[in-house]
This record gives sequence, structure tokens and C-alpha cells, in this order.
Amino acid sequence: MKVSEIKLEPTIANRRSPRAFDPDRGISKDTIIHLLEAARWAPSSSNSQPWRFILGQKGDETHQKIAASLSEGNRIWAENAPLLILAVTQEEGERGIQRYAWHDLGLATAQMIVQASAMDLYAHVMAGFSKDQAQAAFDIPDEYAPLTVIAFGYLGDISGLPEKLQERESAPRIRKPLEEIAFQGSWEEPLA
Ligand SMILES: Cc1cc2nc3c(=O)[nH]c(=O)nc-3n(C[C@H](O)[C@H](O)[C@H](O)COP(=O)(O)O)c2cc1C
Repeated sequence: MKVSEIKLEPTIANRRSPRAFDPDRGISKDTIIHLLEAARWAPSSSNSQPWRFILGQKGDETHQKIAASLSEGNRIWAENAPLLILAVTQEEGERGIQRYAWHDLGLATAQMIVQASAMDLYAHVMAGFSKDQAQAAFDIPDEYAPLTVIAFGYLGDISGLPEKLQERESAPRIRKPLEEIAFQGSWEEPLA
């Protein structure tokens, strides 16, 4: 079967990271709980469940504080998202350093994003924010690390974005070919 013929699950195939969110469409509490439940049921190393989430809804103080920690390039569009989630992971637990804490948070947020996609919601993950500012703003203990901010919302009109960002929204999405990322037998040996 040719790669071009493969039909992925629509929740995966339709997912992308937009910058324009519908300003008139908030996210219900019910939907937010769905997202958190999807994250909660992710696998994790030794079932350590190192993920923690701080949620800001547009108009509340948490949303403002998360938005204020974003780099300018992200804030310009992400502050309009109805939901901003600060994703935090526990790097050190009762049994010492949790080497897979970043990996596990990634799995949990991936599940959240796919669940969002199933509900016509879109997510945009960002590493561009001040971790120190977020840590201080929410009194996050030292053994926890804020890793990403995720903007969630329903798709909006890109005409409201600055011109440069409008161009990026319509640019083709690019991926490495399978031959570059999947091997068989030994390193860089393509799939038979
Ligand atoms: C850990 C991580 C950090 C990211 N940081 C940013 C960011 O700070 N700003 C941004 O606009 N996009 C950011 N992105 C989004 C990626 O640029 C995006 O996922 C990638 O270009 C692929 O596009 P797609 O998600 O639409 O398939 C980040 C994604 C991840 C997973």
C-alpha cells in the first residue's frame, strides 16, 4: 500500500495547530472535563502520572497569567484562545528523579489533543513562554516543571491575524518521509 493511499483516523488526519480561534465560541466545562479525562488515562512510566494541568478560561485571571508568560510571537494570537492550559510535569517524585516525566506529559497531552480533535476542537502546543514566570505566577513547587502551554479553541477566521501569520496558516504542512524515520534490521536500513 502506498503511503499516499493510507487513511488515518479523522481525529489524527484533521488535527493541526491553528492560530485563529473563534472568539465567540467558548469551551464548555463538560468538554474541558473530556480533555482532562483523555489525559488522565494516558500510559506513564511505573504509572507515575507526573502530569499536572493549570487551566485558564478567557476572561479569568489564570488565562491572563498564562497569556502574560507567553513569548510575544505566541501571545499575539494565543491570547484569543478560549482555553489556555499550562502543562506541568513532576520531574522528581517520592522514588527520586522521574526520567520519563517529559515523555509521559507528552503522551497525556497528545491524548488530550486527539480527544479535542474528536470534538471539533483544535489545539496548539507552545514551548515559547517563560517557564520561570509561569512557575512563580502559580507557585509551582521546584520538583515540577512547566513544559508547554496549549491553546484550545474552535477554528476561527484567519483574516483577523497579522498578514505574516495568515501566510503561515495557509502554508503546506511538511513531514519527513517514512524512510527517514523508520528502519528495519539496522540503523537507516529502510523497511523491506
Ligand atoms: C513541544 C512543542 C512546542 C511547540 N512550540 C510552539 C511555539 O512556541 N509556537 C508555535 O507557534 N508553535 C509551536 N509548536 C507547534 C509546532 O510548530 C507544530 O506542531 C508543527 O509545526 C507541526 O504543525 P502541525 O501541528 O500543524 O502539524 C510546538 C509544538 C510542540 C509539540
